[in-house]
Amino acid sequence: MRFVAPHPIPYQGSKRLLAPAILSFIPKDRFSRLIEPFAGSAAISLAAAQKKLFGEYLISDLLKPLTEIWQEILKHPDELSETYRALWHSQSKNNATKRFNEIRAQFNEDQDPAKLLFLLARCVKNAVRFSTTGQFNQSPDRRRQGMHPDTMDEEIHAAHRLLQSNCQVLCGDFREVLNMAKCKDLIYMDPPYQGTSEGRDRRYIREVQRAEMIELLEDLNSRGIEYILSYDGHCGTKSYGEALPAHLNAHRVLLEVGRSSQATLNGRDDVTVESVYLSPGLFGCATPAEVPLKAFNPQIALFS
Ligand SMILES: C[S@@+](CC[C@H](N)C(=O)[O-])C[C@H]1O[C@@H](n2cnc3c(N)ncnc32)[C@H](O)[C@@H]1O
Repeated sequence: MRFVAPHPIPYQGSKRLLAPAILSFIPKDRFSRLIEPFAGSAAISLAAAQKKLFGEYLISDLLKPLTEIWQEILKHPDELSETYRALWHSQSKNNATKRFNEIRAQFNEDQDPAKLLFLLARCVKNAVRFSTTGQFNQSPDRRRQGMHPDTMDEEIHAAHRLLQSNCQVLCGDFREVLNMAKCKDLIYMDPPYQGTSEGRDRRYIREVQRAEMIELLEDLNSRGIEYILSYDGHCGTKSYGEALPAHLNAHRVLLEVGRSSQATLNGRDDVTVESVYLSPGLFGCATPAEVPLKAFNPQIALFS
């Protein structure tokens, strides 16, 4: 039995390290389904399933081949693992960059999910980047070869075992998924940070506007649907996004993510802090004392 939740899709922005802190805000036995409409690597669903917190899971993302990786994990884990293994072994020390570029060009033609998994494992910061025409254009990381196929095989199969019988995967805009939510659902939302999905090399496929997000949260409040939202944050003096307005009655908690490696390199001591908003009906259920101090520093928790 493994104690650490599996994490087969290497993905920049994954909430794997913050999962214990985020899960600590979820009351036991109150919700039947967790919905993750900005799933990415679905770190929160995987960690929740590891702890058996919900009977059902719905993961969804706008990036189609990413949701197809999830379909493969749930339905054809052996095939996905073997294709990844073959792609991984087709690179060598001498041809790694050339091979990465070939697989990237093929992926841009066929949108094959196994190729995207390989690209994510091999690219700089495990970060998706797209050109204005929607082509995946991230470069290979020249220092690393990407997750070893044996490790990938274990991660894929462990995720398969956790979610194969109780998880639905959808591809689409988060608004459609929010419309499907019912009162026994809890929604965990991790939209792209404001400002990360614009310009020449977009980090994700679509920006979510703050005004739209506020409107949707108003709608969830009026329907009595509970949510946890990762939204803004800061590192040193640099802010990511603007905080949400008070009229939403969401309670803001600051989570200490860790020290920024870039700041450390530059001789500074900046700490990255991310905000999590708890919907009005969730407040009072938080049990931060159970959360390891490394992931969550209660001294900087602010309830507003
Ligand atoms: C910050 S990442 C989520 C990371 C995730 N929490 C994890 O643990 O890996 C944001 C995700 O939202 C997706 N996305 C962007 N715009 C979207 C939209 N309008 N509807 C649904 N998903 C969207 C992106 O493709 C990306 O995978």
